[in-house]
Amino acid sequence: MTEAGDGLDRLLEQVEAGGEVPRHVAIIMDGNGRWAHERGLPRFMGHREGMKAVRRAVTGALEMGVRHLTLYAFSKENWSRPPEEIAALMRLLSEYVERDRDELAERGVRVRVIGDRKRLSAAAVRSVESIEGTTERQDTLVLNLAISYGSRDEILAATRTLADRCVAGDLTPGDIDEASFAAALYTAGSPDPDLLIRTSGEMRVSNFLLWQIAYSEIHVTPVLWPDFGESDLYEATLEYQRRERRFGRVTR
Ligand code: IPE
Ligand code: IPE
Ligand code: MG
Repeated sequence: MTEAGDGLDRLLEQVEAGGEVPRHVAIIMDGNGRWAHERGLPRFMGHREGMKAVRRAVTGALEMGVRHLTLYAFSKENWSRPPEEIAALMRLLSEYVERDRDELAERGVRVRVIGDRKRLSAAAVRSVESIEGTTERQDTLVLNLAISYGSRDEILAATRTLADRCVAGDLTPGDIDEASFAAALYTAGSPDPDLLIRTSGEMRVSNFLLWQIAYSEIHVTPVLWPDFGESDLYEATLEYQRRERRFGRVTR
């Protein structure tokens, strides 16, 4: 066993002894550009390295027994970046799908892509459909990849869906409650995140899961996303396990 592997095992044991593991972890994967800049590399290289961190996050989630992992990969607002950067990110998506699709299925991961697909290129849509199709029968870990995602958009889309159902007569406005609203969001089927992680030290939510994070525990780490590893996920979980979740109640 390598020293690093030994350290990881020890952290994992602490997590196992530490209490409940979050059922759903959501991550705002930020800092790829700064990681590249620090090394005098083009931003694209930061995104490429960030793809390796995605693999480590999935591995860590599987090791801990997390059931849902939602990764913010590309926001609706990111469409305003230079076209070359967007093209590079879309190529990386296809590369990730080609390289990891079958292995993800073998490891029991079901991938769902959440966001506005209408803006994706035909090639990106093909990648998305192929990874969703190959993994659709898996249920050890649901991996929601947020691509072309904006939470306000998601909330508006859910509102339209429910309004259409009211017009069609299979729902009345009085029937709309938190459960039916949550079921109309892209994340339907995943519980609300217990733990929200943001890397690179930024203290903001950037239009991510605004409805779903109402009571999530927030962990901000200065680590830049390409440097994020299993140990960072385990450490965030250990901190989560030490938190007292109150949900508005008095507990002592
Ligand atoms: C996060 O890294 C990845 C995406 C938003 C696609 P950034 O590209 O935002 O990296 P920084 O924030 O400029 O360092
Ligand atoms: C948030 O990161 C979106 C993703 C991680 C995909 P950004 O880098 O786009 O967010 P801001 O612009 O710093 O808020
Ligand atoms: Mg950023």
